[in-house]
Amino acid sequence: MINHLDGGYLRQALESDVRTGLTAEPKWLPPKWFYDAAGSELFSRITRLDEYYPTRRELAILRSHAADIVRRSGSDTLIELGSGTSEKTGLLLAGMRVYMPVDVDAVTLRATARRLTTRFPGLSVRPVCADFEHHLSLLPPGMVAFLGGTIGNLDPEAREVFLKELRSTRKPGDAFLLGVDLVKDRDRLVAAYDDGRGVTAAFNRNVLHVINRELGADFVPDDFTHVARYDEENEWIEMRLRASRPMRVHVRDLDLSVYFIRGEEMRTEISAKFRREGLATELARAGFDLDRWYTDPDGDFALALSVAR
Ligand code: SAH
Ligand code: AVI
Repeated sequence: MINHLDGGYLRQALESDVRTGLTAEPKWLPPKWFYDAAGSELFSRITRLDEYYPTRRELAILRSHAADIVRRSGSDTLIELGSGTSEKTGLLLAGMRVYMPVDVDAVTLRATARRLTTRFPGLSVRPVCADFEHHLSLLPPGMVAFLGGTIGNLDPEAREVFLKELRSTRKPGDAFLLGVDLVKDRDRLVAAYDDGRGVTAAFNRNVLHVINRELGADFVPDDFTHVARYDEENEWIEMRLRASRPMRVHVRDLDLSVYFIRGEEMRTEISAKFRREGLATELARAGFDLDRWYTDPDGDFALALSVAR
C-alpha cells in the first residue's frame, strides 16, 4: 500500500483541524475524522439501515448502468476516491486492469484490497492511503470515481477547490464518475441521518472517541446528543453534537481547554443534496462537461458521468 499519510502527516492534520475547529465560534469538526476502523464499521452499518437509502439507490443505478459507464470511460484503470469498503465498486471492475482505491482509513483500505485481490484475480489492486483534499496531484491517469455522495460532505468552497484540483490532474477526455444524493422530501432526508437504532448517533459521536484516543482529550461522548437537521436554504443536512450539560474539555496533546455551555451545538458534518442543473454548472466551472446523468427510478440518487474538457 502506498501511504501518503505517514511521516506525521495525519497527526499534524488532526491537530490543526481540532485546534481550528474547537477554538472557532461556533465550534465545528471536519467529517474526515469520523473514519477510523470503528467509524468505517459504523458507516457500513448505516448503509444497511432501512432509513439510509443512498447506498441501495446507487447500487441499483450501478447494476443497470455499470457496463455503459465503463464503456464510455474508455479506461482500463479506475481510481476511486473515499473508497471505504468498495462494496459497490465491484460492478465497475469487470474489464478493468488496475483499481486504485484511495482512502484516509488505512485499516479498511488494506482489508478491502486483500478481499478484492482474491475476488478479481486478474486485477491489479493498488491501494493508496491519502487525503483527497490534498493528494490529488499524485494520482495516475484513468477514470476517477467518487461515489456514495461523499462530495456532499465538502462545503461549497472546498467542493469548488476539489473539483478544480481534480480537473487539473486530468487530461481532456478523461472520465469522472460522481455519485450525488438528490434534493427530496425533508422527512426522508432527516430520517436517513437520524435512524431509529442510533447507529448514525454512534457514528457522529465516534469523532469524539477518535480525538480522545489520538490527542488525549477527555470528551465524554455520551454527554453529547446527536442532532440532524435539514437546512432548506442550503439544501444540506447538517449533523451536530449538542452538549447536554456545561463542560470543560481538555485536549492534552494540544494543551488546549475548551468550554461548552449547556445546549451548545458543534457542527460535525454537512451532507449536501444536489440538483442536476446546479451540479452540471459546478462541474462546468471546474472544466468537466456532464455527459450522462443516471438516476434510480424514484429519482433519489444520481451518478453523473462527466468528461474533462
Ligand atoms: N465510497 C464508499 C464509502 C463512503 S464513506 C461508499 O460509497 O459507500 C466516505 C469514505 O471517504 C470513508 O471511507 C472515509 O474514510 C473516506 N474519506 C473521508 N474523507 C476523506 C478524505 N479527505 N480523503 C480520503 N478519504 C476520505
Ligand atoms: C459518506 N457520506 C456520503 C455519508 C453521507 O450520507 O453524507 C456520511 C454519513 N453521515 C451520516 N450518515 C452517513
